[in-house]
Amino acid sequence: MFPISSWYDRLGYHSFPTVFVGLRADQKTALLEAAGRDVVDSPTSSVEKSVAAALQKAIRALPGSCFVGADVCAPTDSPLFAESASVSNGDRAWQMLTSSPKVRQALQQDQTSRLTVRPFRNMNRIREFRLFLYDRELVAMSQMNLERHFKRFARRHDQLWGQGCELATAFRDGLPADHAVVDIYFCSNGDALLVDMNQWGEPTDPLLLRTWDQDWTARPGLKLIAPPLDLSGDVSVSF
Ligand SMILES: Nc1ncnc2c1ncn2[C@@H]1O[C@H](COP(=O)(O)OP(=O)(O)OP(=O)(O)O)[C@@H](O)[C@H]1O
Ligand SMILES: [Mg+2]
Repeated sequence: MFPISSWYDRLGYHSFPTVFVGLRADQKTALLEAAGRDVVDSPTSSVEKSVAAALQKAIRALPGSCFVGADVCAPTDSPLFAESASVSNGDRAWQMLTSSPKVRQALQQDQTSRLTVRPFRNMNRIREFRLFLYDRELVAMSQMNLERHFKRFARRHDQLWGQGCELATAFRDGLPADHAVVDIYFCSNGDALLVDMNQWGEPTDPLLLRTWDQDWTARPGLKLIAPPLDLSGDVSVSF
């Protein structure tokens, strides 16, 4: 896994501003213990409250509501995340993190010693793409949202690939390894944001590239969902 902190000093300016909240050993233990309980509780002990207070301070340092994570992962599997992915106070951030099995596992396996707080952005998953960088070169790219075909993307195939190549060049020297998988978000103004960086191979999902077991030097290129036989199901995406 590539935690945000492993690339942020070199590539952070391509991404969301991020406030890191380092955890002391006792804070990490408290977070892990709370994450092991079945109920979603507000912080109660003084150590728990110190974590929530640190998160609260970080949230206040950023404009608007926030998106919290554990540096290596985000609490996307928390039941609270399904209600709303954004948090606006430390207690809610604490609850979001402690109710996520992903966060619990990252703490258990000692993959992280810090939390991350980023500005919440209303993202349309249709605009998220995954870049496959092999030997620091873009060899493949996939849509993240695999629900359906989007005609707009098919029309812009070459332009999208060109943008992917430009980003790969911009990220090249800041990558934490020669092979990496980089998730990006195309903003409506055409800019791209680096959202997340993942390790090459399992458990990272190869999405439309289907399998990790292939000759990547053959550069599979941009993969999009093929059009259905009946195009009436297509939706127009502002891009
Ligand atoms: N700052 C943000 N504001 C709003 N949504 C965000 C933000 N950052 C990420 N997201 C959304 O949350 C998703 C998961 O974030 P991220 O990839 O950082 O965590 P993850 O643990 O790797 O999750 P996954 O396993 O789904 O990739 C992103 O694909 C994006 O849709
Ligand atoms: Mg991710």
